[in-house]
Amino acid sequence: MRTLLITGGAGFIGSNFVRLILERHPDYHVIVYDKLTYAGNLDNLKDVASRFGDRYVFIQGDICDAEKVGQSLQIHNVDTIVNFAAETHVDRSILDPDAFIQTDVYGTYVLLEAAREMGMERYHQISTDEVYGHVPTGTSKESDPIAPRSPYAASKASADLMVLAYHITYGLPVTITRGANNVGPYQYPEKVVPLFVTNAIDDLPLPLYGDGLQVRDYHYVLDHCDAIDLVLHQGEIGEAYNVGSGSEMKNLDMTRLILGLLSKPESLIQPVKDRPGHDRRYALDISKLRALGWAPAHTCEESITSTVRWYVENEWWWRPIKNGEHYQAYYRAQYAGREAARELAR
Ligand code: NAD
Ligand code: DAU
Repeated sequence: MRTLLITGGAGFIGSNFVRLILERHPDYHVIVYDKLTYAGNLDNLKDVASRFGDRYVFIQGDICDAEKVGQSLQIHNVDTIVNFAAETHVDRSILDPDAFIQTDVYGTYVLLEAAREMGMERYHQISTDEVYGHVPTGTSKESDPIAPRSPYAASKASADLMVLAYHITYGLPVTITRGANNVGPYQYPEKVVPLFVTNAIDDLPLPLYGDGLQVRDYHYVLDHCDAIDLVLHQGEIGEAYNVGSGSEMKNLDMTRLILGLLSKPESLIQPVKDRPGHDRRYALDISKLRALGWAPAHTCEESITSTVRWYVENEWWWRPIKNGEHYQAYYRAQYAGREAARELAR
């Protein structure tokens, strides 16, 4: 039997993972440890408490709080840490990197120290394809040098290096997964797909950065969670594994797909000033994970299609977020003046 501390389990990917683990492993216990920042939301776990109450505990806490982390591990007899907790939005890291350094770098160090001290059976780090930086051609292999280019990507890359250092130096049994752009249920509507879907539903403009020809692998969140479960059980200690769909899509095509699915006009597309240092393309080589017997179940197009359906059917979840003061303030800071700036740059 395993007891997992899932940090960041009230966020987008973490909450999908909590559900998958509890459904798949009837003898596992899950402790969600989450600070509940703007991105953490107990609505993401609403059904979990009622369905799995006897095997599920929620603790509100910061991964930077060493004392609370240590107590939580001890009280619940945790043997495995899966760390999803992070500041995750690239645009926010450009506006204000501070929280990224705190949580993504220092917070990871706190968890690693606790894992070492308490002798965890496994420490698993959720990482990102962004650590490889912009990939103009071909695909990134796990053995490629990391070359992050945004404050977010640099904070995640720092964490990866620290995780690997704890394995090499102290023998901590670690694994890492580096995921592509996830889409699916419960993604905070600041990320491009839920932002564009919910704006389109309301006939609001879709702010497309630059020329819209940037390339991403829009990967279905449950495929990602399935891969993490596999790596937890069959991955080699000390190794990193790329996780993606192996397909890719230009942002402009993703935008047109969303508008088409919602029967909305392309005139909603509003080209705006580009993101500074915008990585034009990420693309992962997923052969190492395939060799463990894993295969993605959705292409980018299928993932986006099913995500659009979920947002159409679940306004109860996203509308209160978008109407909230925090979201509105962020939206103004990020987008007000972007269109004007584009006009000036012409
Ligand atoms: P999210 O922003 O939806 O959720 C992050 C969660 O972490 C929230 O519940 C938040 O409350 C919690 N959190 C933040 N700071 C914390 C702290 N100091 N202590 C405890 N909890 C804290 O993020 P997500 O998109 O679900 O991403 C989860 C993980 O996956 C992150 O590590 C991210 O870097 C990684 N990742 C994300 C993607 C993606 O496309 N979203 C792709 C690859 C990897
Ligand atoms: O690749 C994995 C990463 O994917 C994760 O590690 C990050 O946590 C996650 O936020 C995501 O990063 P991106 O920067 O790729 O995702 P985002 O949804 O912010 O943007 C996707 C693409 O869409 C990117 O090329 C920028 C563009 N974009 C984004 C926003 C928010 C727009 O054109 N307009 C927008 O308003």
